[in-house]
Amino acid sequence: MKNVLVTGGAGFIGSNFIHYLIQTEANVNIINLDALTYAGNLSNLSSVENHPRYRFVQGNICDADAMDNLLREHEIDTIVHFAAESHVDRSILGPRQFVETNVMGTFNMLEAARNYWLRDKSMPLEHVRFHHVSTDEVFGSLKAGEPAWTEETPYAPNSPYAASKAASDHLVRSYGHTYGLPYTITNCSNNYGPYQFPEKLIPVIILNAMEGKPLPVYGDGQQIRDWLHVQDHCEAIHLVLTKGKTGSTYNIGGVNQPANLTIVETICDILDEISDTTHKPHKNLIQFVTDRPGHDRRYDMDTHKIHAELGWQPRHTLTEGLLDTVKWYLDNLEWVNSIRKKQEYKGWLDTNYKAR
Ligand code: NAD
Ligand code: DAU
Repeated sequence: MKNVLVTGGAGFIGSNFIHYLIQTEANVNIINLDALTYAGNLSNLSSVENHPRYRFVQGNICDADAMDNLLREHEIDTIVHFAAESHVDRSILGPRQFVETNVMGTFNMLEAARNYWLRDKSMPLEHVRFHHVSTDEVFGSLKAGEPAWTEETPYAPNSPYAASKAASDHLVRSYGHTYGLPYTITNCSNNYGPYQFPEKLIPVIILNAMEGKPLPVYGDGQQIRDWLHVQDHCEAIHLVLTKGKTGSTYNIGGVNQPANLTIVETICDILDEISDTTHKPHKNLIQFVTDRPGHDRRYDMDTHKIHAELGWQPRHTLTEGLLDTVKWYLDNLEWVNSIRKKQEYKGWLDTNYKAR
């Protein structure tokens, strides 16, 4: 790993990954390629913006020529592909953008890699890697008592978001099989932690509770997700990049599976304890609202493979991780307010929640 292209590096996980990589790898140059959509935020990276080994390039993964040139210009040997539309609710209301970015955008990145690494033979193949960051949602939904998903579980995506990620995973795999592109894929469960855009459950609940606004719980709140601290995800990706077998996929998960309502109540308890808001007890703000269409009931990842092959396991417990995350949002009101005041964000809250 010498010149690493991180796509979507201004988003939640991508920016955490860039911080992680700068701290862990002393000799790696990082190029962050991001279109700065509503979810991209360069202030996530303000502390490293002048770092000698970091460079930001604004660009779109749907622009094939630009991606071709970018790889050549920076002599990229490693691609860590995060860039995507990532929010399930937005995919239900506007699926087209998900197909364009997640499917066509990934296709462009694969073509750029094929052109530069395989056609031009720019560097030895054992020195290159295309790492694709994917999701557990490609596996669909589990009923109570069904076993956790393994890397062998057939795909059964339910939302347009999940289907677009599944399609991108298949494309990556096909480039490995057909052209010999050295790739790895990770399928990870729900992340939480610093810099998560406040459209996802945990930051929505923290921010609404801080302001005394209703806490929207979809349906009966008994849906189950497998929560993982974002830093544990970054560590897992780094391990797969440096020690994972090319042509392999790895499941990543937190082995934390409380119901959504429990997550919401835990955040309320934390805020009751550590904040000085006038809205205590915060649980009184919980409001059950119309469910997400096609809402997956339960996710559960079997992470034996990454543990056995690479020794990875999560470091954060959900209790500590949630406490740290609530504190992070309380301590970073400038970051929060810079998003809250944007028209796009206000519009999204109206679109998603007003009619529920
Ligand atoms: P995010 O929405 O916070 O960030 C996405 C980033 O991609 C943003 O910076 C955005 O500007 C950029 N982007 C979007 N379209 C682009 C385009 N066409 N060209 C260039 N950049 C573009 O997403 P996230 O939560 O950080 O997720 C990152 C990746 O991890 C996604 O691929 C997602 O599917 C996957 N993932 C997320 C989770 C999770 O819990 N958040 C879990 C598993 C996997
Ligand atoms: O599982 C991995 C996936 O996790 C990632 O691939 C996605 O990019 C990421 O967005 C996330 O998807 P979810 O749909 O699970 O995350 P979200 O935070 O939107 O919702 C978590 C759960 O909380 C889900 O069951 C829906 C519910 N929910 C969500 C919101 C935003 C609510 O009850 N109320 C809400 O307001």
